Amino acid sequence: MTTIYDVARKAGVAPITVSRVINQTGYISADKRQRVEAAVAELGYVPNRLASSLRSRRTHTLALVLSDITNPFFTNLARGVEDTASDAGFTVIFCNTDESEAEEQKYLGVLLQKRVDGILLVPARSNPDSLRMLQHNGTPVVVLDRRIPHVQADVVRCDSEDGAYQLTRLLLGLGHRGIAMLTGPKNVSTSADRVAGYRRALNEAGLAKRQQMVFYGDFRQASGYQMAQQALAAQPRPTALVAANNFITIGALKALQEAGLRVPEDMALVGFDDLPPAMVAFPFFTVATQPSYEMGQAGTRLLLERLENPAARPFQEIILPTEVIVRQSSGVAKLHLS
Ligand code: RIB
Repeated sequence: MTTIYDVARKAGVAPITVSRVINQTGYISADKRQRVEAAVAELGYVPNRLASSLRSRRTHTLALVLSDITNPFFTNLARGVEDTASDAGFTVIFCNTDESEAEEQKYLGVLLQKRVDGILLVPARSNPDSLRMLQHNGTPVVVLDRRIPHVQADVVRCDSEDGAYQLTRLLLGLGHRGIAMLTGPKNVSTSADRVAGYRRALNEAGLAKRQQMVFYGDFRQASGYQMAQQALAAQPRPTALVAANNFITIGALKALQEAGLRVPEDMALVGFDDLPPAMVAFPFFTVATQPSYEMGQAGTRLLLERLENPAARPFQEIILPTEVIVRQSSGVAKLHLS
C-alpha cells in the first residue's frame, strides 16, 4: 500500500509537506503543492483518514444543525457554512430539526458519537440544555441566527429587534395605527426580539399596549394563515400586518386573498426575509432582509478559529444588520389618503 513516505520521496519533499497539502493546512509553495499532487496521482495514494483523525483527534468534519431546511433563509445560510468550511478543508454534515427540541437532542447525540470537530447550531428553542451539553462535552459550538439567554457562547445572528422596529416605523410613517404582529413561538429569540422591536416603535408613537396586537404561532405558512385570520377577526381590524418571517408572510397573504382583501389597498403586509429572486418573478413584499449567507460564513470562521485556538479570545456575539427593502406591499393607509 502506498504511504505518505512514498509520496514524499516521489515528490522530493518532507512527509509533513505531503500531510499539509492533503489536509490543506499551513502554507505550501505552488511548486511543492504541484509536485505533491502529481506524486499522489501517479502513485494512487489514498490518505488513511481514520488513522490521521485518531492521531490528530481531528475528523475535519463540522456539523450544521438548523431548524427548517425547507426555508430559503437557512439554505442560504448553509451555503455560507459549506463554502467557508470547504475552503478550509472541512466537510459539513447537515441536520434538520424541524424546530423540534427532541430532534435537536437526537442529532446532537449522533454528532458527538461521530466525533465532529465542531457544531454550528440554530437552536430550536431558547432552552439552554443542548448548548450546555455540548460545552460540557468539550465540543466547540457556535450559535447561529438565534441566541440562548444566560449561556455564554459564540453567537452570530441578525438584529431582529431593529429590523422589526424599522418595519413598524415604516408603517407608522405611512399613516397606519392599527398594526398587528404575526410571529413565531415566544421561546424563540428571533420571535421575541421581533416583537420587542414592534413594541418599541408603537410605544414611541404613543400607542398603548391595548392597541398593540401580537399573535404567536410558528414560523410556518399554515401558522401565518391562521394568525392572519385571527388578526382579521380583531376589533378594530388592523390596517397593516408585520410578519416575523417569510413563511408567515406567504401564509398571511393567502388568508387575505381568501378574505377578498387586496394588498396593500385593504391591508398592508410587511415581513422578515426576502424570497430568493429565482423564486419570485416580481418582488412585491416590503421586507427586512437578513444576510444569511454572511451569517453562515462568519459563524464558520468563528468556529474554525476556536478549533485552532480554543482560548483565543472571550466569547463573541456578532450581530449583523438587517436591511429594509421597501416595495409595493407596504402601501399607504387609506386614512392617510382621505
Ligand atoms: O425565516 C427564517 C427566519 O425566521 C430566521 O431568523 C428564523 O429564526 C425565523 O425567525
